[in-house]
Amino acid sequence: MKNRCQTRQQRTPLLSRLLDSAARPAAPFHTPGHHGLGVAASLRAVWGDAIFAADLPELPELDNLFAPEEVIAESQALAAEAFGSDRTFFLVNGSTAGVMAAILATCAPGDKILLPRTVHRSVIAGLVFSGAQPVFVKPEVCPRTGLVGSVATATIAQALDDHPDLKAVLLVSPTYEGVCADIASIAQLCHDRNLPLLVDEAHGPHFGFHPGLPPSALSQGADLAVQSTHKVLSGLTQSAMLHLGRGDRRAAPRLHGDRVAQALQLVQSTSPSYLLLASLDAARMQMATQGEALMAGALALAQEARDRLRSLPGIEPFELPAPQPGFALLDLTRLTVDVRGLGQTGFDLDERLNQDHGVVAELPSLHHLTFIVSLGNRAADIDRLVNAFGAIAAAPAFGRRGDDVGLSEGLTSTLSRDIDDEAYGEMVMTPRDAHFSASDALEPALAVGRISAETVCPYPPGIPVLLPGERISAAAIAHLERVKAMGGVISGASDPSLKTLRVVS
Ligand SMILES: Cc1ncc(COP(=O)(O)O)c(C=O)c1O
Repeated sequence: MKNRCQTRQQRTPLLSRLLDSAARPAAPFHTPGHHGLGVAASLRAVWGDAIFAADLPELPELDNLFAPEEVIAESQALAAEAFGSDRTFFLVNGSTAGVMAAILATCAPGDKILLPRTVHRSVIAGLVFSGAQPVFVKPEVCPRTGLVGSVATATIAQALDDHPDLKAVLLVSPTYEGVCADIASIAQLCHDRNLPLLVDEAHGPHFGFHPGLPPSALSQGADLAVQSTHKVLSGLTQSAMLHLGRGDRRAAPRLHGDRVAQALQLVQSTSPSYLLLASLDAARMQMATQGEALMAGALALAQEARDRLRSLPGIEPFELPAPQPGFALLDLTRLTVDVRGLGQTGFDLDERLNQDHGVVAELPSLHHLTFIVSLGNRAADIDRLVNAFGAIAAAPAFGRRGDDVGLSEGLTSTLSRDIDDEAYGEMVMTPRDAHFSASDALEPALAVGRISAETVCPYPPGIPVLLPGERISAAAIAHLERVKAMGGVISGASDPSLKTLRVVS
């Protein structure tokens, strides 16, 4: 049986059909306009011909993403088998589309959804689209490192008791730094109330493929999980998957797959890229057939980096001392390094690593740098990383410490993850009502106490500091200004200079 499954998983129906279609002689009079040949010579010189020949639209032989019956249906079924889902949807607009669809499929205007305040901005977009009312819970913070984890099971239990009218629960697990929630017990709590548990697992598409990695959210009972195949596996940028859990077929359905399918049509392009779709097919095949070996390689490289970095002065790789609420498990391929001991901010170090040593981190923050170690890394990358840190640790400190730019420990290690109660204002309107309200542009000082009409967040990690519908606090504005002063990128604001903020009139 296992062998039959392995043989099946070697297949790439969508990729194979796309390559056949690209090779077929035909006079093309359809989109995309380049028809394989009309491409700028400079681009073709670098990318070659094959990619343009395969950049095809929904031709009859290529099935249809929104009404799949043939090769896309077959590829999605193989992905469902590989990722342990009841039904898998391929996404071409990233996890962003999957997260929005998950909310649209479960919440109508005014419905309450439970979620941590540290959600990705795609969740806020889902709230604006659906009109759902967020009920925020606080995630846990590691007292030693200041890193923000996931939500404790007890916090969810209390919130479920306090809000018997909830329609869904949404969790982010893992976090950007790889910290996982105790999905199994939270799923049980949700299912006792017949509530669907939706998991933003954008950073965990590799989970479950090696015993040294956390189990996937679906395998722990989640009803829906969204994974960015492109973030950690080999899918092309923007390619992602939405998986539905197997659930208990005897119980009343908590989530309707057809509603998810409909919602996806609202948020995805009507011209899905077959290059992205085929890359999902190939990434699934790669993980189903070699996933354990590939993940063993990534885990070994990450462990080597951790061990070698630990021996350097001033550098402390993050590890879970023991499971604790909100920190159930850690993805050990995610390498987060505490750099406080170097007397420099993570932002300054990030710049130095990149410019002087050609080492590019995923996420800099005030006290930490986070690196994604994946199936695409090799031993030479780890050498470069460790040697760069070695050179920096040996050189005298430079740059600004967090204290020098007025950032207190209370504002947590990650600039954009300020979960200080003081900074997060009260939610006074639904994000949708605030988004559609008449608004004014005010200077930040005058915006204090007013209701934000927009989502404003440092990127990465894309966790909003201001949400539409939330009262703006002086601490939030001070925080955003500091992020900007430190060279962080702020997205979402209608005035990117932050000279004005949009508030509800
Ligand atoms: C937690 C989380 N969820 C969702 C997303 C959106 O993913 P994508 O970029 O695939 O749309 C991100 C992106 O950074 C993320 O960090």
